[in-house]
Amino acid sequence: MKNKIVIITGANSGIGKAAAQIFAYAGYTVVMACRNLEKGEKALQEIVAASNNKAVHLMQVDMSSFASISQFCIAYKERFDKLDILINNAGYFNHGEGRRLSPDGIEITFATNVVGPFLLTELLKNELKKSDDPRVLNASSNIIKHFFSPKKKLDFDNVSGDPDAGYKHSVYANYRDSKMAFLMLSFKMAEEYKELGITVNSLQINGARMSNETLQKFAPRWRVIAIIQNLFFPPAEFMGNNYFELCTSDDFAKKTGKQFNHKLKSMKKGPENPNPTHIWGSQVYPVYAANKPVQDRIWNLCFDLTKNHLKSDTYSENLQSHKLVACA
Ligand SMILES: NC(=O)c1ccc[n+]([C@@H]2O[C@H](COP(=O)([O-])OP(=O)(O)OC[C@H]3O[C@@H](n4cnc5c(N)ncnc54)[C@H](OP(=O)(O)O)[C@@H]3O)[C@@H](O)[C@H]2O)c1
Repeated sequence: MKNKIVIITGANSGIGKAAAQIFAYAGYTVVMACRNLEKGEKALQEIVAASNNKAVHLMQVDMSSFASISQFCIAYKERFDKLDILINNAGYFNHGEGRRLSPDGIEITFATNVVGPFLLTELLKNELKKSDDPRVLNASSNIIKHFFSPKKKLDFDNVSGDPDAGYKHSVYANYRDSKMAFLMLSFKMAEEYKELGITVNSLQINGARMSNETLQKFAPRWRVIAIIQNLFFPPAEFMGNNYFELCTSDDFAKKTGKQFNHKLKSMKKGPENPNPTHIWGSQVYPVYAANKPVQDRIWNLCFDLTKNHLKSDTYSENLQSHKLVACA
């Protein structure tokens, strides 16, 4: 597998690190795309020592910053001549934080969990096209179950950088909405990349044991609940192994536009009026996720927000081929 290359964002801890280790054991060339080089270096040393795979690389990227993502892609293309697998794993969730904006003036959760992965994937699209089996996997969450309520809709106003827009800040709501938007973006990406031969799928993570560092991101009263929940969660390696299966197994080679559950079963669109079996189980996702106009709106919003970075790249032709309709 030496000639197969995988990029994993947020590979210095949790599921991303576990997945990096599994790919390294299997002999892949692994690029750990991390924002904190010190933490990344420590994880890299552990992975190399455990796997004896020297083809594990650390590269810096801040997924909330368009400039950092663009820089990462330029550096990646200088070092590697193709990409086989891209795993958009990094996720932002910081309990107790006030409303924060990304360096590009976007609400930080949406910037990190939705727009960043969009830009990274778009900028690496041509590298993926060079692979004979290119796959993109996006990290979803069971927090999207809130959208089983027919009243729940994405709050696009929250994405605005205007701190005085009257938005009531909630870290939880931002995370919930970002994960729904990311799933909807995954469905749209799958459609857009179909003719390029790139598959795009999403994995619904319903719990994986969190590190002590991640638990510190919870506000004290939520931390207690998180610590208790953590006792029942499978280790990060379980989900890391799911990443590996979805990205390497022949069983998933031609699958695209799917949301998989933790048992690697393809989830179906839920009914308009879900009952508790639908809500508590992992067989279906909220019908809202299949709303095409909202999917298009997210895609167009991402294009619009990142257009300067897409234009400055050699991929400007992509802009031509996608109708960038106004995303008011
Ligand atoms: N664990 C669960 O129960 C669970 C449940 C549902 C969904 N998920 C999803 O699964 C994925 C992995 O989560 P995890 O549990 O493994 O959490 P984790 O251990 O906290 O890992 C998150 C990773 O994302 C990185 N990250 C955050 N912001 C970043 C940025 N701006 N740029 C680059 N990297 C950034 C973190 O880097 P730093 O170390 O520098 O912060 C860390 O490496 C996330 O997308 C999460 O939303 C997890």
